[in-house]
Amino acid sequence: MDKVVVINFGSQYTHLITTRIRELGVYSEIIQFDEANKVLYDDEVKAVILSGGPKSVLDLDSPKVARELLENLITKKIKILGICYGHQLIAHLFDGNVEKGVGEYGPVRFRVIHKSKLFKGLPQEFIVWMSHSDHVTKVPKGFRVIGKTDNCEIAAMESEDEMIFGVQFHPEVVHTQFGKEILNNFLKLARVKREWNLKNVAERIIKEIKETVKNGKVVLAASGGVDSTVTAALIKKAIGKDNLFLVFINTGFLRDGEPEEVLNNLKKMNFNVFYVDASEKFLKALKGISDPEEKRRIFAKIYAETLKEAIKELERKYGRIDFFAQGTIYPDKIESGVAQKMADRIKSHHNVVSPIPEGKKLLEPIASLYKYEVREIGKILGVPDNILKRKPFPGPGLLIRILGSVDEKKLQICRKVHKIVEEEAKKLKEYDELWQIFPVLLDSKSVGIKGDKRAYGYIVVIRAVKSIDGMTADIAELPWKWLREIATKITGEVPEVTRVVFDITTKPPATIELE
Ligand code: XMP
Repeated sequence: MDKVVVINFGSQYTHLITTRIRELGVYSEIIQFDEANKVLYDDEVKAVILSGGPKSVLDLDSPKVARELLENLITKKIKILGICYGHQLIAHLFDGNVEKGVGEYGPVRFRVIHKSKLFKGLPQEFIVWMSHSDHVTKVPKGFRVIGKTDNCEIAAMESEDEMIFGVQFHPEVVHTQFGKEILNNFLKLARVKREWNLKNVAERIIKEIKETVKNGKVVLAASGGVDSTVTAALIKKAIGKDNLFLVFINTGFLRDGEPEEVLNNLKKMNFNVFYVDASEKFLKALKGISDPEEKRRIFAKIYAETLKEAIKELERKYGRIDFFAQGTIYPDKIESGVAQKMADRIKSHHNVVSPIPEGKKLLEPIASLYKYEVREIGKILGVPDNILKRKPFPGPGLLIRILGSVDEKKLQICRKVHKIVEEEAKKLKEYDELWQIFPVLLDSKSVGIKGDKRAYGYIVVIRAVKSIDGMTADIAELPWKWLREIATKITGEVPEVTRVVFDITTKPPATIELE
């Protein structure tokens, strides 16, 4: 299948580029800049995009690729588009000029100043989204300027042979007018075949599972969420019900009624479900632990142990299980690769079980898909809507929605508040557009007055964000009336809470979860 590779220089928008390309019907994947040479050995690559990035090409230690790589791509007739940092890198590598200067951030008026196929069908002027301080001050030999803004003389350029294009702005963000059209024009220029269609993708995944698993058995750690359920549905379709075993572990950090609901959902879908209630074990191991990383580490350890025991028991009953399946999705896959390279770990995610159970072969059928694609495939397979519409819920659950140490009492409070927030959130007209909306219980208390008496109670933070992949997030602007009412409802119905606050921080600099 034809594909477009995005070489990643660390932009927060890199996943948005691949998402847009896929929306345009072409498979797209990300390669880190230091592995970029791989594109030369992949005959399916039909175009290459150089992403943005936070560094300056003028710095010696900034991420770069070799000029020869780009020259080799051109020899292979593979077209290149540089975006922001990528645009500057092209100028830098081909002896143009890049300088530090006054930055442009946000919406800026852009003018096409030379007819280009990249802007075919577009007006002469439109608004683009900028986020840069360096800028190109001289195009390389054999290039021409095709667009400018008031503060940026070379806001777009192309090589005269129409093999290399560069734009200073971000066509992948929705704030750029005609951004998708520009990417579409690039795909047309590169003559890539539009072969990415989720119905075919589902069929291909099912075929691959069949070929890999054959008559073997598969175990999967189910959470009841979108990713693991769709993974299970694909595997069941490929190998049938009898050879697939779902282990559902109650960690004790689930929400009110969640264990029953998940079990019910999975049974209705006709899966073999093996339920393990390990809540006491988890709570005991985590008693008094308040450091977030330590909490996650212990959680992961107990989870892996519990899973191992469950698999042993299944094997005693049903014979050897060869494969361990996991609902890893594309951003998890990319981020874990990037995280391995970064010394600075932000937080240890528990989206995936690591290391996987000993002696099992790993099966990750949806590892090349984005969440919205997983939902789409779930729909094709007939996965019920109530599962597909579930908001992401972290593996460690309420353990990380209660800051500091966790005990049964705090869990009860958090469960009550969670229930109120989830029920009320469903009444919001913007509910479907929210990536997540949830409460967090802080580990400090605050003074209040309840029934004319001094009260000293917990503070609840409400977090509501919009996001495409959880990698970056914007705060959701919820109606004031709803916010007022939720504060009244929570403090009224949960006596231990005296204060409710709303988190107004985007990611970055904050993360979505508070721990
Ligand atoms: P952060 O907090 O890193 O979260 O901005 C990004 C997305 O990942 C979810 N998340 C997790 N999911 N196990 C999970 O399965 C985890 O340990 C975990 N930590 C964060 C979070 O809910 C958000 O959607």
